[in-house]
Amino acid sequence: NNSVITAPSILAADFADVAGGLRRIEDACAQWIHMDVMDGDFVPNISFGPKMVQDTRARTSLPLDVHLMVNQPERYIAEFIAAGADYLTVHLESTVHVHRVIQSIRQDGARPGLAIVPSTPVRATEELLDDIDLLLIMTVNPGFGGQALIPRGIEKVAQAAQIRSDRGLSFKISVDGGVNRETARALREAGADVLVSGSAFFNSPDPAQYLRDLSGR
Ligand code: DX5
Ligand code: ZN
Repeated sequence: NNSVITAPSILAADFADVAGGLRRIEDACAQWIHMDVMDGDFVPNISFGPKMVQDTRARTSLPLDVHLMVNQPERYIAEFIAAGADYLTVHLESTVHVHRVIQSIRQDGARPGLAIVPSTPVRATEELLDDIDLLLIMTVNPGFGGQALIPRGIEKVAQAAQIRSDRGLSFKISVDGGVNRETARALREAGADVLVSGSAFFNSPDPAQYLRDLSGR
């Protein structure tokens, strides 16, 4: 398959020097920027809001892959799209009328993504797979970077890839949490199209080489 998209997560950057974090991501030739929005309610951590997306949009032309770990995300869809989100991903577990939210993301001009936490089976997404451009499979419990990948997540990637091919769909499969050199190969082979990486990227002595290793280039 064509090489994997790498999406470093700005959550792992120094929040007092976000511009430096963006430069590191661009200098490493990443394809996307993953932006983890956390509300302190859906997940125990709080990160940043629409203004961070808006200000990042003004500094880079890389696609912004915005991951909303927010309860009732329908409250913020318009704001994050106006701020410049290219992909806007909501959690299946974060609101009842997810199908409606996915529709409104596309209507408002962004590419809709659907995320599932480790305890949610891939099967639970079946009614939404026709309407999304990205399925984000969390391989850690959301809220923090620097955690170890949950191995079951690799199975879930393979399941999602199977359902996608059975149904002739074309959503991208993204993996998020605990991705590093060691776990990337198995994830690519299982069918991952996008690899998000936070701590391993920002801790890497050679970020460009790390991303090449991640994508199997
Ligand atoms: C966790 C976030 C992930 C996290 C990835 O809730 O959704 O994107 O920042 O960080 P690492 O790669 O360190 O697990
Ligand atoms: Zn994320």
